[in-house]
Amino acid sequence: MYSHTSNPKSQAGDDVHLAGGSLAASEAIVLAAGKGTRMQSRLPKVLHALAGKPMLVRVLDALAASGFTCPLVVTGYGSEAVESVAGKRARMVVQPEQLGTGHAARVAVDLLPPAVERVLLVHGDEPLIPPTVYTQMLDLQARTRVPVVLLTTRVQDTRGFGRVIRVSGEPVALVQESDLTSDQRQVDEVNLGAYVFDVPFLRRYLPLLQAHHPKGEYYLTDLVAVAAEQSSASPLVAAVTIEGGEEILGVNDLIQLEQATATIYRSTNRRLMSQGVTIVNSATTFIDEEVQIEPDVIVHPFTTIAGVTHIGTGSVIGPGTNIVSSRIGRRCHIVSSTIEGSVVGDDVMIGPYAHLRQGADIDSGVELGNYAEVKASKVGTGTKMHHFSYLGDASVGRNVNIGAGTITCNFDGRAKHATVIEDGAFIGSDTMLRAPVTVGRGAVTGAGSVVTKDVIPGTTVAGVPARPLEARAPESTDLRPRTDLRSPDGGEGESGV
Ligand code: UD1
Ligand code: CA
Repeated sequence: MYSHTSNPKSQAGDDVHLAGGSLAASEAIVLAAGKGTRMQSRLPKVLHALAGKPMLVRVLDALAASGFTCPLVVTGYGSEAVESVAGKRARMVVQPEQLGTGHAARVAVDLLPPAVERVLLVHGDEPLIPPTVYTQMLDLQARTRVPVVLLTTRVQDTRGFGRVIRVSGEPVALVQESDLTSDQRQVDEVNLGAYVFDVPFLRRYLPLLQAHHPKGEYYLTDLVAVAAEQSSASPLVAAVTIEGGEEILGVNDLIQLEQATATIYRSTNRRLMSQGVTIVNSATTFIDEEVQIEPDVIVHPFTTIAGVTHIGTGSVIGPGTNIVSSRIGRRCHIVSSTIEGSVVGDDVMIGPYAHLRQGADIDSGVELGNYAEVKASKVGTGTKMHHFSYLGDASVGRNVNIGAGTITCNFDGRAKHATVIEDGAFIGSDTMLRAPVTVGRGAVTGAGSVVTKDVIPGTTVAGVPARPLEARAPESTDLRPRTDLRSPDGGEGESGV
C-alpha cells in the first residue's frame, strides 16, 4: 500500500537532477496529503491562498527558485484538486491514508530512483520559507555530510509547532507539542518542517519508525533522535536557524493563514515604498507581489491591486479601489472603482464607483464618472461618460459625450451585438442604443431616444424609436465637444440634451 503514483506515466526518476549547488543528485519532496483539519474547511489546506496564490504554488515557486523544477508532491485528501493546481510543475504521489509525516515521506522515498542521494523535503503548509534558505540547508548538508539538516526559528508563540531539543548546543530531538515535558515547554525554537535528508539514511530508518498513539501516526520528526543517537562523538544532525520568528511560520488554521497573508502584503508594500510608491496606509492596502507600480504613484487606503497589473508613474489610486490584471497609464486618477482585465491610457479619470470589466480599453484623457460601466469596449481619447451608463461590446470614438443613463442594449436574449459611436458624437441623456447600431460622426441623439437604426453622420435623432430631426451638412461636424447642446448647467461632459 505504500507507494503508487496517480499518473503512471510520470514516475519519479524520469528526472533526477542536480540542485542546490552540490554535486550530489538531489530531489525535492513536498508533503501535502493532509486535509488540514484545523482549517475547518473542505478545501485541501495547501490550496488555501495567501495574497492571491495557493500555499502549494508558493512552495513550488520557492523550490523552483532553488533549482527543483519538478518536485514530488505527496497528496491524499483532495488529490485531484491539488494535482490540477500543481499541473505540470510537480509529479504526484498518492498517500492513500494519511498516517503521518513519516509515512508520507516513505511513500515518496520508495519511489526515488537509486541515483538520488539526498532530498530536500518540505511541508506544503510552510509557504513563507524563502528559496535562499533551501540553498543554505543544501550547502550545509554538502559541507557536513550529516544525514539530517533541520530548519528552525525562534518564536514567542510556539503554538502547534514541534520544539527543537538541544544538548550542548546540538539538536538531538524534535518533540511534538502534545509530548512536551514541562521543561521542554520553555523551548522557543521550533521546527519549520523543512529538511535535507541523506536518502540511504531515510531508506534504512523510515521503515523502522514506530506509530504514535492515539492516532497511529508515524512522525518524520522521530528521525532526528534516531540520527543523534548514532554517534555521541560527532553530531549527525545540523540545523539552519533563521531569523524571522513568527513572520516565517507555516499555516495550520485560518488565524495563521491571516497572519501569513499579512506578512506577505506587508513585505510587498515595504518593497514598493522603497521603490518610490507612496502607500498612505499599509494596513489597508493589499497589493499582490507580481504587480508593478512605477515611482510617484500614490495608493490610498482600502485598495487591492492583484494579478498581472502595471501602474504608470504619477497615478493616484484609491481610496477604495480594486484593480485586477490591468494596465493603467500615467497620471490617472482612480477613485472608489473596480477595474478588471482592462487597459487604461494616460491622464484618465475614473470614478467614483465606476466598473471597468474584462476588455475595457480606455484611451488617454477619457473621463468615466459615477456608476460608469464599461465591458469589452474601446473608448477613444477625450471621450466623457460622467454619469451612470453602460457600454458593452462598443467602439466609441474620440471626443464623444455620453449623457447620463445611456445604455448600449448589446444583448437580444441570444447573442451580443456591437455598438459603434463615431468621433464627436453627442449621446443625449437616457439614450438606448439597440445593437447592432452605429451613431455616425458628429451625430446627436436626443434625451430619451431609443436608437434602433444607424444614425447618419452629422444628423440629430430623437424619439422612440429615434427619427432624424434635422439634416446637417457633413462639413459642419467637428471633433470638438459640442458646446451648443450642453445641459442647462453648462458643465462639460454633462448629462446631455
Ligand atoms: C509538523 C511537525 C512539527 C513541525 C510542523 C512544521 C511532525 C510529526 N510534526 O507538525 O514538528 O513543527 O510540521 O510545519 O512531523 N502530511 C502528509 N501526510 C500525512 C500527514 C501530514 O502529507 O499523513 C503533510 C500535511 O499535508 C502538511 C505537512 O505534512 O503539509 C505537515 O503536516 P501537519 O499535520 O500540518 O503537521 P504539524 O502538526 O504541523
Ligand atoms: Ca502544519
